Amino acid sequence: MAKITYIEHDGTEHVVDVEDGLTVMEGAIRNMVPGIDADCGGACACATCHVYVDEKWTGKTGERSSMEESMLDFASDVRDNSRLSCQIKVTGELDGLVVRMPEEQG
Ligand code: FES
Repeated sequence: MAKITYIEHDGTEHVVDVEDGLTVMEGAIRNMVPGIDADCGGACACATCHVYVDEKWTGKTGERSSMEESMLDFASDVRDNSRLSCQIKVTGELDGLVVRMPEEQG
């Protein structure tokens, strides 16, 4: 279980408990957090689950896969800390994670 803070583009924060084994995207969808569309349902095929991982957490959330990297080409305003939230698996290690949503999803 990890407590994850999702911050919308306008600064609205949503703090939710997400079970291990779910993805950061699923944690948002199940808790009705706006700002993550997840059109493909987590198949790394839509880039509408784009988030910015807080700099303090980029080491823990790991590297983008090459497939994720190519999907991010379809996202807008991609930055160094951009990730597809469906590709980040939640474990206790991520307790306290902070992610921010972009202004609009790809
Ligand atoms: S939900 Fe489609 S790429 Fe993540």
